[in-house]
Amino acid sequence: MKSPLSSSEIVVGLDLGTTKVTAVVGEVDADGITILGVGNVPCRGLRKGVVSNIEWTVRSIREAVEAAQTMAGVEIKTVYAGVAGSHIKSHVSDGVCAISGREVTRADLDRVLEGARAIPVDADRMILHALPREYAVDNQDGIRDPIGMSGVRLQVRVNLVTAASSCVQNVIRCVERCNLNVADVVLEPLASSDAVLSEDEKEIGVAVIDIGGGTTDLLLYVDGGIAHTSVLPAGGNNITSDVAAGLRTPMAEAERLKRNYGCALGRMISDDEEIEVPGVGGHAPRRVARRLLSDIIEPRVEEIFSEARRRIEETGLLEQLCSGCVLTGGAALMEGMVECAEEILGMPVRLGFPVGVKGIVQLVQGPQYATGVGLVRYGASQLADAAPRGLRATDEDRRIEAAAAADPSSQKNGFWNWFRAAF
Ligand SMILES: Nc1ncnc2c1ncn2[C@@H]1O[C@H](COP(=O)(O)OP(=O)(O)OP(=O)(O)O)[C@@H](O)[C@H]1O
Ligand SMILES: [Mg+2]
Repeated sequence: MKSPLSSSEIVVGLDLGTTKVTAVVGEVDADGITILGVGNVPCRGLRKGVVSNIEWTVRSIREAVEAAQTMAGVEIKTVYAGVAGSHIKSHVSDGVCAISGREVTRADLDRVLEGARAIPVDADRMILHALPREYAVDNQDGIRDPIGMSGVRLQVRVNLVTAASSCVQNVIRCVERCNLNVADVVLEPLASSDAVLSEDEKEIGVAVIDIGGGTTDLLLYVDGGIAHTSVLPAGGNNITSDVAAGLRTPMAEAERLKRNYGCALGRMISDDEEIEVPGVGGHAPRRVARRLLSDIIEPRVEEIFSEARRRIEETGLLEQLCSGCVLTGGAALMEGMVECAEEILGMPVRLGFPVGVKGIVQLVQGPQYATGVGLVRYGASQLADAAPRGLRATDEDRRIEAAAAADPSSQKNGFWNWFRAAF
């Protein structure tokens, strides 16, 4: 069979955010991902990361996809869609299988992962991802890549990510109503963290906090594997509402003031700076101290980072996040966010912009595009999965691959290959 990556393939990421729908078109070949087009359309069809109005969401998806395909000059048929919201939960689960003294193959990894997935989940929930944290072969644990190792017993510890089936179904329904196929539904913070992190950070341990409009997504990498993910039900829109209420100004003005003059740490603002605040209901505009704006913003940002810290502490992994925290998502752009996060989380913090792609990168440069770019990267890794020889296979890989292919129980496992390609 001809390897799909011997030529190029089009991969499209569809980020359904609370404030916007973004379609990112990437061309994937053996040299990597080239961004060909982007469609970005405001969307009011989601609340806190979850579809609440199908019609509005469908309309935004249509517009975003049309814009992206016009720019890219390709027809979009299939997308990798993001899913988010506080219905997402993650649990640790273990799997075990016998390998009877021979070398571990990819088929064994599939079997052991299948075992880890075999836990009862509520009827209204589904397993979205099984993310391997570490493997053990016989008594040796902490193994990241057991392929080729010999033993009698293979174990895996995974993070099982589960989601409310209805929320996932609604995402699929919206996409299919636009006559598009869903190649896969992907946890949004998984995608955005992949777009902004370096391999070193994943290795040393890092927290990614994606602060969007409706939700703040948290994802922890420890020893190169995903150790925790959760979604906090607050984001940039809550900051805007606070500003609108606190300064008694319309939402649109509050959004503008927040973006242009907002700051997450009041003490970074000098006392003599002033801003003009338009009034509501015919009231005249008035001048107020910029410090007042940041005094409104700061408690909400503090609340978000304190909750993130509480959740990190709960996992017991705080000490293992040696490279600190990466902030992404549109709300991370506000002045003072990095400084405020450093104070509350007690670790070094940097802003995360999408990396690892070429082409029209200026269109996907901001942290609000991390999810869209990450979805394309995820899709690209799935293609690599279908063509393991094309990317980076060694002779040893090929030999083991051939053995796995001969094994009738052999199945593809997207996640394993995604991790494999990432290392
Ligand atoms: N320069 C800026 N300063 C402050 N906030 C900003 C700035 N630019 C964007 N934002 C905020 O970022 C938020 C949108 O971010 P993003 O596009 O990542 O969210 P989303 O993906 O639509 O939502 P979610 O991920 O929560 O579903 C909005 O609340 C917006 O006000
Ligand atoms: Mg988002």
